[in-house]
Amino acid sequence: MKSTTHRLDRFISKNTAFSQADVRLLIAQQRIFLDGMLATSIQQPVTQFVQVVLDGKCLQANQPVYILLNKPKGVVSATKDLEHSTVLDLIHHPQKNALHIVGRLDLNTTGLVLLTNDGAWSRQISLPETKLPKVYEVTLEQPLTDEYIAVFKQGIYFGYENLTTQPAYLEILSDYTAKLSIVEGKYHQVKRMFGFFQNKVLALHRTSVGPLSVAGLELGQSRLLTTEELATIFSSTKG
Ligand code: URA
Repeated sequence: MKSTTHRLDRFISKNTAFSQADVRLLIAQQRIFLDGMLATSIQQPVTQFVQVVLDGKCLQANQPVYILLNKPKGVVSATKDLEHSTVLDLIHHPQKNALHIVGRLDLNTTGLVLLTNDGAWSRQISLPETKLPKVYEVTLEQPLTDEYIAVFKQGIYFGYENLTTQPAYLEILSDYTAKLSIVEGKYHQVKRMFGFFQNKVLALHRTSVGPLSVAGLELGQSRLLTTEELATIFSSTKG
């Protein structure tokens, strides 16, 4: 989840035999390029995705990767697990071992999981202020009533975290099924919200996160996010 930013002089001393003090001279001698441009200052920030070339040798060239997976049941939202297969086992990407998960789903929950190597992006997705709606299809053990709609909209007190959940929107689809939209991702949040009514969640499927959707993907399938999705993911939540 780390997305470290170094100053250029620290980056060079960490990744080469040159010292921090040498970097001023290397810059003056025009030996360092950042994203194809001559470096101009020892203080230039070197983030995870800046390409750094010294004397024609590439020291860093990471590409950001953003993957959307439709997670099946029984697959763990983790990168390693001794007992179950993990979401990473379902990904076939050359940089898959550098990926982390953005917003986990429980073992038996299905649906949309995001994976990336871009820590700044995943932090922004997860920030409560970003208020990206996460939509779930829920199947319950007991019949639903309109009371759920009002209570979820008002918020439910979670004693463990000492907080009240942000307004959530419930659309009742049938006696036992509903669509729930929440903007947070507290531990077992959906199950605990229905737990307020002592109503057990029998099946849970996340269909979307903001404008991103699993539509068109079979369970177990994944795809890269499109340039348009990346450009617009946060714009729907402003204001
Ligand atoms: N809420 C839950 O209870 N479980 C999930 O997997 C996701 C949200």
